[in-house]
Order: sequence, then C-alpha cells, then structure tokens
Amino acid sequence: MICYFSGTGNSMWVAQTVAARFGDNRLTDMADAVVSGSSLNFSLSEGERLGFVFPVHSWGIPWIVRRFIKKMSVSNYDNQLIYCILTCGDDCGLTNRMLLKLFRRKGWLCRHIYSVQMPNTYVVFPGFDTDPAELEQKKTTEAVGTLDKIMAAIESDSPIDCYLQKGQQFLKSRIIYPLFCRFAMSSKPFRTTDKCIGCGVCVKNCPTHNIRLENGHPVWANNCTQCLSCLHRCPQTAIEYGKQSVGKGRYYYGKRKDSQQTSHKSN
Ligand SMILES: Cc1cc2nc3c(=O)[nH]c(=O)nc-3n(C[C@H](O)[C@H](O)[C@H](O)COP(=O)(O)O)c2cc1C
Repeated sequence: MICYFSGTGNSMWVAQTVAARFGDNRLTDMADAVVSGSSLNFSLSEGERLGFVFPVHSWGIPWIVRRFIKKMSVSNYDNQLIYCILTCGDDCGLTNRMLLKLFRRKGWLCRHIYSVQMPNTYVVFPGFDTDPAELEQKKTTEAVGTLDKIMAAIESDSPIDCYLQKGQQFLKSRIIYPLFCRFAMSSKPFRTTDKCIGCGVCVKNCPTHNIRLENGHPVWANNCTQCLSCLHRCPQTAIEYGKQSVGKGRYYYGKRKDSQQTSHKSN
C-alpha cells in the first residue's frame, strides 16, 4: 500500500512511478482520507510493503500527513517493510527524525527514509521562487535515476544513504517548522485577481477540499495545508497569496510558467 500526498504533482509522480515498479495498486490519498473522514484502519497482507510519499514542508511533515499517520492503524502489522520517500526542493532538515518518532510511538520500524530533489514550489515567502528552467529540468531528469536507486534499495531491503540534509537543521526543523505550522497555515491571504474566470480548477484540485465557488469565485475555508496547488495550477494565473506570490513563477509537475509570464497584469 502506498499512502501519498501531493500538492503540485511531484510526489504524485513519485507515488505513481513506485506503484508501477512495485506492482502496488493500493494507492491511498492521505489528504482525502483525513478530510473525508473515511476509515483510517488498514490491513496489510504478509510481505506487503507500506509506503509513504509526500513533500517536505518547512523542513518537516505537512500537517495533513502527520495527522494521517497519527490516526491510521494497521490491524495486522507484523514487521512488514515500511518506507518513506520525501520530495523536496532543496533540503529535508530533520523530517526523517520526526517520522521515526511518529512510527516509534506506533510501535513500527522504518529503515528506509529517502528524499528525491524535485522542482521547488514554495513561492509565498520573500526570497523564495520557482527554479530557473535549466535547474528545473536538471532536477526532473536526475530524479529519475535517484528514484531508481531508492526503489532498488527498498526492493532488496538494503538501506542506502539518499537523504538531502543541509546546515542549521535544528533551527529549520525545531524552530521554524513549528512556527510555520502555527502561523503560516492561514488561507486568508489567498485572493483572486481580475483574471479569474471562475473555472473551478482550484476547487477540483485542492487536496483538502478547502475551496468552494461563491458567486463564481473561489473562497478558501480553514483546512489549508499550504500545498499551493490552487496557486500553481490556476490556468489563468489568477490566484495570489497576498503580495508574496506576485511576479513569481508557477509550477506543476510537467508544466511551468516563468515569473515574466505571471507578473504582467497581476493585481
Ligand atoms: C509550504 C511549502 C513548504 C516547503 N518547504 C520546503 C522545505 O522545507 N525544503 C525543501 O527542500 N522544499 C520545500 N518545499 C518544496 C517542496 O517540498 C517540493 O517542491 C515538493 O517536491 C513539492 O511536492 P508536491 O508537488 O508533491 O506537492 C516546500 C513547498 C511548499 C509548498
């Protein structure tokens, strides 16, 4: 079984690639499962692997994923192999340790925690933008080889060292991550510009079903996990997050828009 969460398609690509290679068609959308209130009780067959695939948010675990893992149960867990594949733009900080702690509390053992570097999607803080086109291409190309190595390690159950971690981990994961979870989760700054045509693509793509159309325009409720799917996937580039996203690039796995393309007419 593969439990996944993806805002802008990177982790979805990983989950689908892993599913195809492992012949594992049991894909569970963690955000949908949490928000829709469906049963989080699962069972695994003998030898079935349990995988988690999701993006790193602020050097930690997205809250929706944390909630899913905390609440889920596996009725017949008997040391089946557990693995995690994180996608990140740059650096995962101490997300691996957070995961190990979560699993330890459940009495589960996880020896495979890996990361795959993918194009960056965090654009709502000063200094953060999507990657330049060449870097995005490089990351996407190299991710294929990295994921291949990761899948081989999981298949043979031989852990490898494949986890992106840079400096100042304590500051990033123990100080900034809790602040991010507490203060940066608001959907209030989301707004539409006059380019919005009320097409509802944002409503359809929001992993937490947090957007509805009112009088032909999106309205955000309080279940935002900051994946930025709405902002990046808007076909009109009509969604902004306060002023932070204005003039920044837009990216969705396999598709990009440069800052120059997004800045004009933005209001
Ligand atoms: C709210 C948010 C926070 C992020 N924080 C980090 C981070 O701490 N480190 C990092 O390397 N990438 C970070 N990123 C980039 C994503 O982890 C990366 O682009 C990921 O592949 C996106 O996956 P998805 O397309 O499946 O949503 C962040 C992205 C978002 C939207």
